[in-house]
Amino acid sequence: MRSVQVGRLEGPAGVEVVQAPEPTAGPGQALVEVHALGVSWPDLLQTRGEYQLRPDPPFQLGVDFAGVVREAPDGSGVAPGDRVACCLPYGGGADLVAVPVDAVLPLPGPVGFVPAAALPMNYLTAQFALGTRAQLRAGETVLVHGAAGGVGTACLQVARGLGARTVAVVSTPEKADFARSLGADHAVLVDGFLGAVRELTGGTGVDVVVDVVGGDRMTDSLRSLAPLGRLLVVGFTAGRIPEVRVNRLLLNNIDVRGVGWGAYALVRPGFMREQWDALLPMLASGVVDPPVGTTYPLEEVSRALTDLEQRRVLGKTVLTLRGEHRPAPQPA
Ligand SMILES: NC(=O)c1ccc[n+]([C@@H]2O[C@H](COP(=O)([O-])OP(=O)(O)OC[C@H]3O[C@@H](n4cnc5c(N)ncnc54)[C@H](OP(=O)(O)O)[C@@H]3O)[C@@H](O)[C@H]2O)c1
Repeated sequence: MRSVQVGRLEGPAGVEVVQAPEPTAGPGQALVEVHALGVSWPDLLQTRGEYQLRPDPPFQLGVDFAGVVREAPDGSGVAPGDRVACCLPYGGGADLVAVPVDAVLPLPGPVGFVPAAALPMNYLTAQFALGTRAQLRAGETVLVHGAAGGVGTACLQVARGLGARTVAVVSTPEKADFARSLGADHAVLVDGFLGAVRELTGGTGVDVVVDVVGGDRMTDSLRSLAPLGRLLVVGFTAGRIPEVRVNRLLLNNIDVRGVGWGAYALVRPGFMREQWDALLPMLASGVVDPPVGTTYPLEEVSRALTDLEQRRVLGKTVLTLRGEHRPAPQPA
């Protein structure tokens, strides 16, 4: 079978598709035939040894994927032939993968494999961030940084599903249009976002900020919060981890809360399935509808990772293992 291997910690250039023996299922594991494999920022970080998890090369890349169950233990809630989405810390990038049954999530009939590969990590992270960590209530306002990216688009949609108003913050007008097309109530450019937020909220500020970017926007993000507001630290795509002067929290009665979905969900049996069950009504109603950007054949995994790194993608990039792929849009 084909396997996406990180041979050297050199970023996308160190990744290749090689032939490998098929795995067998261990205790508590299902075997899943992979049809579509998501490409995410954590994949990219792992290719450089810069993620929280640092497996020694060579290792098999791949966090999110979707496919068909070939083999499953009795009582696991899934059976051979079932269509599923799955999430692993890494290792999902192959034609056949052994997956702990807790991380095997049954797919509703109408959802295709490509959008399904965009679902698990981003949408369960969004739900954990907004529901569990922010305790978001209907009627509140949520600002999302990096709102045209994978986690960002998921946060826009899950926030809407929870009854919130959304403000997308993005770097280009094209990304602003994209965020609006996904249901963002407002989309503003990162340059001057604080002023725009004050205007949109009549000076009150927003209740929740979701920050996947980090870098130098932290202070303005804190300034954009209403009293009792919560800023969620989700990621650092800008490359720099910001620092917080805690007097700001005291003066304005605001919180900064960390969101580490994997560290929480992957070690709590049953938690991911509970989250998945809570997401299914949002999928059924259409409020959750993962935007897939470009699809590539599996063999083009390095190119897909490079496009992500160079900030060229809208929505989720997906690699197909057994189906058609959609060509990348030509640069303007
Ligand atoms: N904490 C958790 O549980 C958790 C779970 C999953 C992912 N994450 C993290 O969340 C972050 C976002 O992941 P993602 O998959 O959504 O990534 P993504 O699809 O690439 O989106 C990230 C966004 O960051 C913005 N950005 C700002 N500066 C950038 C730069 N220098 N280079 C690239 N992008 C930049 C871009 O938006 P603009 O161009 O509009 O600024 C981009 O759309 C990553 O750090 C990832 O590790 C955390």
